[in-house]
Amino acid sequence: MNPARRVASPRVVCIEDFRPLARRRLPKAVFDYLDGGAEGEVTLRENCRAFQDVSFRPRHAVTFPACDLRTRVLGFELSLPFLLAPVGYSRLMHPGGEVAAARAAGLAGTGYILSTISGHRLEDVKAASSGPVFYQLYLMGGRAAAEDVIQRARTAGVSALVLTIDTPVAGLRERDFRNGVKELISGGLREKLPFLPQVLERPRWLINFLRDGGIRPLPNVVIPGKGPMPLVDINAALASAAVNWADLRWIRELWRGPLVVKGVLTGDDARRAVDEGAAAISVSNHGGRQLDGLPAPLRALPEVVAAVRGQAEVWMDGGIRRGTDIVKAICLGARAVLCGRGYAYGLAAAGEAGVTRAIEILRVDLERTLHLLGCPSLTKLDRSYVNVPATWQVV
Ligand SMILES: Cc1cc2nc3c(=O)[nH]c(=O)nc-3n(C[C@H](O)[C@H](O)[C@H](O)COP(=O)(O)O)c2cc1C
Repeated sequence: MNPARRVASPRVVCIEDFRPLARRRLPKAVFDYLDGGAEGEVTLRENCRAFQDVSFRPRHAVTFPACDLRTRVLGFELSLPFLLAPVGYSRLMHPGGEVAAARAAGLAGTGYILSTISGHRLEDVKAASSGPVFYQLYLMGGRAAAEDVIQRARTAGVSALVLTIDTPVAGLRERDFRNGVKELISGGLREKLPFLPQVLERPRWLINFLRDGGIRPLPNVVIPGKGPMPLVDINAALASAAVNWADLRWIRELWRGPLVVKGVLTGDDARRAVDEGAAAISVSNHGGRQLDGLPAPLRALPEVVAAVRGQAEVWMDGGIRRGTDIVKAICLGARAVLCGRGYAYGLAAAGEAGVTRAIEILRVDLERTLHLLGCPSLTKLDRSYVNVPATWQVV
C-alpha cells in the first residue's frame, strides 16, 4: 500500500500507530536516532508517563455545538494549541523533510520551528508554510555563521528565534553509537562498511535518499569564506555550539524580534530567561535526549509558571502523544505545547501526508477531550479541570 494511503487507513488511530510504520520505512540507525533518548532512556519514558499522574475533573451535562481550539502565540493566532518542534536531520527521515512539515503545519493553521540542523534552506521552508515559521538557533559554525543566519531569517520573514539552552554537549545517545551514526555520516568507506547492512535493508529509503542527493551540507550554517558546514553527527555538531547567558545578550542585539528560550526546567532559569528578554520559554528536557534523570517537563511546569508570573508565555514540550496530554499541559499553565516525535514519526512514515494525519489526529483528540470535559474553549481551561498530586503544588 502506498504510504499516504497507509497513514489514512482506519488502523492509524493514534500517534503511537505511526511508530511501527516509521520503523518499517527507516534504516535502524535513522529510526533509533528519531525514537531514542539518552543513556538508560529513563527521562524519555518519564516524559510520557508523567501525564498519568494528572487526572481530569470533568463538568458533565454540559453541551455546546463546537469547541474553540484557537490560541495566541507570540501575537499569532493559531488554530491549534500545539506547534511542530525543531527536529534536526528531518530530511534523513523523508526527502520532503522540513519543507513538508512546515507546509503541513501552515495548512493546519499552526506554526513550525525549523532546527539549525536542517537539510532544507530556511528560505524554502518559510516559503512553503502559510503559518508562522520560527528558527531554532544553535551556535554551530561559530558567531559569524549565526550572524549570517539571523540576517537571513530576518530577510525571509521568520517570526521568532528559538534559542535552545540545554545542549552544552550532546547527551549520550547509546543507540546512535551502536548503530554507527557517526561513521555513516562522516566516516570513510572502511568505517562505514560494518554499518551498511541496516541501510541496505531499506532499499526504498535508500533510493529516495540517493535521489535526494545523499548526505548534503547544512544550508543554514554558512561559515564565511568556507560555505555551508558539512553534515556531521550530533556530538560534533553540538560540541561547538554551547550557549551561555552572555550569548543571549549578544543575540538580543542582532535580533529585535521575539526570542524564545527552549530547555528550561527550573523556576530560576525561567526567571533569568525572562529578565534577559525572552518573550516565551519552553519547558523542555529535549525529549529525553540530553541529561538522563531530568524530570518530565509536565512535572516542572507548575514551578516555571509560578516563577514567570505572567511576564512571558510558557510553552512545554516532551512526551506529547495525545490530545489529553496537550489539555493537561494547558490546565497546568502552558500557553501551547511543542510536538516532536509525534509528527516526526508521521513524516518518516509518509512525508507531508503523515505529518498532516498526525496533526489531524491531535486536533480531533482535542475536540473530543474538550467535549468530554465540558469545556467549550481552550482558553477556559485551568487547574479546576485536573487533579494534580499534592507534591506538585508550588508553595
Ligand atoms: C529526532 C529529534 C531531533 C531533534 N532535534 C532538535 C534540534 O535540532 N533542536 C532542538 O532544539 N531540539 C531538537 N529536538 C527536541 C525537540 O525539539 C523537542 O524538544 C522534543 O522532541 C520533545 O519531545 P517529544 O519528541 O516527546 O515530543 C529533537 C528531537 C528529536 C526527537
